[in-house]
Amino acid sequence: MSARILIVDDEPSICEILTDIVQDEGYTAQAVQSGEAALEIFHQFRPDVILLDVWLGGIDGITTLKKLKQLNPAVGVIMMSGHGTINTAVKATRDGAYDFIEKPFTMEKILLVIRNFLDIAQVSRSLVKPAIVCPPIIGSSAAIRQLDDTIARVAPSNGRVLIQGENGTGKELIARQIHLRSKRAEHPFIAINCAAIPEELIESELFGHEKGAFTGAHQLKTGKFEHAHGGTLFLDEVGDMSLNMQAKLLRVLEERAITRVGALAVIPVDVRIIAASNKRLMDLVEQGDFRQDLFYRLSVIPIDVPPLRQRTSDIPLLAEHFLAQVCAEEGIAPRTMSADAMALLMSAAWPGNVRQLKNVIERMTIMSPNVVIGVADIPTDLLQAESGSTLSNTDEVDLRRAREQFEKRFIEEKLVQCDQNITRAAELMGIDRVHLHKKLKLYGIRK
Ligand SMILES: Nc1ncnc2c1ncn2[C@@H]1O[C@H](COP(=O)(O)OP(=O)(O)OP(=O)(O)O)[C@@H](O)[C@H]1O
Ligand SMILES: [Mg+2]
Repeated sequence: MSARILIVDDEPSICEILTDIVQDEGYTAQAVQSGEAALEIFHQFRPDVILLDVWLGGIDGITTLKKLKQLNPAVGVIMMSGHGTINTAVKATRDGAYDFIEKPFTMEKILLVIRNFLDIAQVSRSLVKPAIVCPPIIGSSAAIRQLDDTIARVAPSNGRVLIQGENGTGKELIARQIHLRSKRAEHPFIAINCAAIPEELIESELFGHEKGAFTGAHQLKTGKFEHAHGGTLFLDEVGDMSLNMQAKLLRVLEERAITRVGALAVIPVDVRIIAASNKRLMDLVEQGDFRQDLFYRLSVIPIDVPPLRQRTSDIPLLAEHFLAQVCAEEGIAPRTMSADAMALLMSAAWPGNVRQLKNVIERMTIMSPNVVIGVADIPTDLLQAESGSTLSNTDEVDLRRAREQFEKRFIEEKLVQCDQNITRAAELMGIDRVHLHKKLKLYGIRK
């Protein structure tokens, strides 16, 4: 699960920039503009890290810090100070702040401080945690049973695995299972989404860079390969890698060593690669968009995850699992699902697969007051998806409003498919993230 970052700054533009930076890194972000708002949202948002401005209107940063630490002493507070408040920021570390950063800050610095805190937090958690918990792969269909079998067999080896399947079918879950059931389980599992990182940054993300390697490389940075040393590197959406990067990756796989951008030294790495793609890589190979030699190197053990609509017998187990999970998380009494409702769920199309099912169950459980969740609680758009989006689904007469209605639904659907990750959803839709943010505001779609 991605770490949750709360941003507190009275300057909306700073909130926006910071939100972008941390979201791009894969964290879940929320921004508020006052100490009061931070305290109010604290229990609901449950942040792991808080970026807190020293100077705030209303109650000031230091008072906010003290109150936040009372709410949860384990939360990591990073103070942000402007000109003239640096002394206050330094003192704040005595009041429980983890660290401080000075404005204007660089993106690297912020991410570094966040990462440092999360690393420490993880270490202290792992000291008390006796065993690594493995989220189970739910399902009783032949496909899932076979999958379980394959995982058990391949996990202990170092063989490269290529997992292919539609969005939301559980590719990442499978990759984590393989890692946790391998001899590398005590070492890191590092995931990188090749589709979410711009072409010019991906090399440095994977291999790291030396200080001064390019404009903006203010300090040395280690890459994901080095982070994953001894463990597993999950290359998600590997089909989106450019041919140029594919060539570099191929070399690393052959040499089992990396070179940081701007460096000469070769650093040996011991990393098991698990790759995933929602596009069929063989098709990309045929189109000339993916190197055949790399394809064969990555797919020593291929795993194909069928879409949910092809294994509907898994739906009841999954639905019950998610239902119990939401009830536990929300602290509500256990609920059940009526047989009719379950049958309807089994007949839906599920273009967003298991992820969509999970989101729908969550929505139904929270929205419905009923102990037994029935047909009436099932969102209508889910059932409409089954019959395709025919014109009769909209009762708008005005073209503009019909278009807006369609656009809103379309965006909501894509967000579900991307697990509410705005950067990825924007990419999927072929629009700019800022543009998508505007649309979300316009249509009042809450993340
Ligand atoms: N068989 C399963 N049992 C339990 N949970 C599952 C199962 N399959 C998927 N999930 C859950 O569904 C969600 C989506 O799964 P995951 O992120 O692994 O999919 P994905 O194939 O990587 O999707 P994408 O291509 O969109 O990245 C996660 O919350 C995951 O835990
Ligand atoms: Mg994934």
